[in-house]
Amino acid sequence: MAPAPEPTQRITELREQLRYHNYRYYVLDDPIASDAEYDALMRELRALEQAHPGLVTPDSPTQRVGGAASEKFAKVQHPVPMLSLGNAFDENDLRAWRERVLRLLGDDTPVAWVVEPKIDGLAIALTYENGVFARGATRGDGEIGEDVTANLRTIPSIPLQLRMPDQADDRQATSDEHSSVASLPPSIIPTTIEVRGEVYMRIADFEALNERLAAAGERVAANPRNAAAGSLRQKDPAVTASRPLRFFAYAPGPSMGVTLTSQWQTLEYFQALGFPVNRDRRRFADFEQVIAYTREWMARRDQLEYEADGIVVKVDSFGQQRELGVVGRDPRWAIAYKFPARETTSRLLDIVVNVGRTGVITPGAVIEPVNLGGVMVRNASLHNADYIAERDIRIGDYVTVKRAGDVIPYIIGPIIDRRDGSEQRWHMPARCPACNTPLERAEGEVAWRCPNFGICPAQLVRRVEHFVSRGALDIVGIGEKQAQLLVERGLIKDVADLYTLTADSFAGMEGYGTKKIANVLAGIADSKQRPLTRLIVGLGIRFVGEVAAQALAVTFGSLGALMAASAEQIDEIEGIGPVVANSVAQFFSLEPNRALVQKLHDVGVQTDQPLAAARQSDALMGKTFVITGTLPSLTREQAEELIKAHGGKIAGSVSKKTSYLVAGEAAGSKLAKARELNITILDEAGLRALLGDASVPAASPTDPPAPVEGSQLSLDL
Ligand code: IVH
Repeated sequence: MAPAPEPTQRITELREQLRYHNYRYYVLDDPIASDAEYDALMRELRALEQAHPGLVTPDSPTQRVGGAASEKFAKVQHPVPMLSLGNAFDENDLRAWRERVLRLLGDDTPVAWVVEPKIDGLAIALTYENGVFARGATRGDGEIGEDVTANLRTIPSIPLQLRMPDQADDRQATSDEHSSVASLPPSIIPTTIEVRGEVYMRIADFEALNERLAAAGERVAANPRNAAAGSLRQKDPAVTASRPLRFFAYAPGPSMGVTLTSQWQTLEYFQALGFPVNRDRRRFADFEQVIAYTREWMARRDQLEYEADGIVVKVDSFGQQRELGVVGRDPRWAIAYKFPARETTSRLLDIVVNVGRTGVITPGAVIEPVNLGGVMVRNASLHNADYIAERDIRIGDYVTVKRAGDVIPYIIGPIIDRRDGSEQRWHMPARCPACNTPLERAEGEVAWRCPNFGICPAQLVRRVEHFVSRGALDIVGIGEKQAQLLVERGLIKDVADLYTLTADSFAGMEGYGTKKIANVLAGIADSKQRPLTRLIVGLGIRFVGEVAAQALAVTFGSLGALMAASAEQIDEIEGIGPVVANSVAQFFSLEPNRALVQKLHDVGVQTDQPLAAARQSDALMGKTFVITGTLPSLTREQAEELIKAHGGKIAGSVSKKTSYLVAGEAAGSKLAKARELNITILDEAGLRALLGDASVPAASPTDPPAPVEGSQLSLDL
């Protein structure tokens, strides 16, 4: 039998591997090991260290949660103050800042600019001695911060030990056109180095954390920034360890044993040492390019994985930075170009209730109109009655309003200090405002509902709106107002009645002339041919969105077959759980819904699946596509459906994770970005070629999918 390897040697190996995987994951954003493999290495290391406690070192990857809980954080004096940033609020401010920089340096001096995202988190300083993480502190007031070393150690993207910066993949990771600088980062580990940066939380992680906290009955955080700050200031490092914190490095503090000459070089060096550095950094020699990039960045704001409150522009050269100096806390060599704010205050004028298509009653806020990030906001969500009660939101209150990403603005809560006593408490009305039926609330549910399902006119209007929406039957020209009028005129009693409308039905509607009406009617007629997936979405079955509808369409091939299926049969479908299965079976067990399907069929809506897009193969499984420009024969939607039908995913913007860009006529910035990231670019023919035999022109009829049991059922019930 071969002797067991030396524990010391194996421990070293395991630590190196774990550090390397961490680096691939957090710094290069390009992992090569699965979570399971990583966990297995970690388990092996833990077991070995347990068997040989003498071999445990503080920089071992197992030692992240080490320190004991502390009552108070010790104060730390920053050897060099941590600065803040002056603000620019528009391009004029930004240009004025550049003018001042050039005036101070001398008008003809060449200046290079580094542009970095300004992530909303909290600033910290990390000190490394001989390559080992020694201390970390919050910014505090810039002079004195708090020692949060034990908590910082738990953040997986903060290296406990620095990497020796000479490995080949460092160059590769940053060798794009933007890193073409004269001075390469030094290949040494400094005696001491302070690395400054931001601790933050990604939006998705923040939302998941809040869900978890809410479920445990704990206080939720208002935004990712507060969540990050709160998580870092926990008394118990084990709690911090359970929070999804991340770090990125952006500035050097005092260091010994290494000479850094520019911001860009420093960022490259940080990355080589094993720190995450923002991928969206850029270096420009021309200030017009800086402006162009900030514009691009503003436009991308909603697609970011993290919350950013602006973009930072810095003079690259440290020599020039020294020449420019600091006024108060703000360096003259850097500026923060702030995004328009997306949180503001307004007055809550009223709370109105809205009846949804399934009868759910949602309260909505009417607020004094206010500009929020460039959009005038008059209405905001209040989620549900419990939300209002828990936060004690009253009519007349000054409230904080927030708009993030594409979501509807919502009320965060009241500003209690601004109350004058005139504010009124609000209560959910007892009856449906549309049909006067007493409202109900099911045991254990948050939502109040109008139980008058088939008949309540408000629900019907919502169902029509949903049926015609883009993700469903995609009928243009029928909005809330028209749906309301059609229901009021008694022309629509269910969504199938849409197909019985005539030009007369629209008579007298504002803006609906002969031509417009003809277009709407043509759109209605066209919609009869939509893929089954869209029709299933359009029915508005609870819990059935696009993904579930696609699975149902592909499996059953027709509404008739789906309607005949039991909850158990539906539950067997890959990707569909019992909740969805029960909801679908329940929906089709109701006579009015079965009658609706029959009626849709009778008016000529296609209720089975003749389109190629529904034939599924796995040809594109695991691949992410971005589509840009106009393709020669496929519409954007057809191309998306084709890709999804073969297991591919669609993304809205190009990133490192994009597998293919499908580009047509007049492709713009996405094409440029894909080239920059070396992503394979396909035209329509290339996309079809990728599908090989699985490919069929998207709009032509083809053999029906293999029938599942019951799929030949006639619709005559
Ligand atoms: S530079 C000049 N770079 O913004 C040195 N700061 O308003 C000051 N921040 O306290 C920092 N992203 O918390 C810099 N890429 C970035 C940043 C950034 C976020 C934060 C940081 C700082 C605050 C200044």
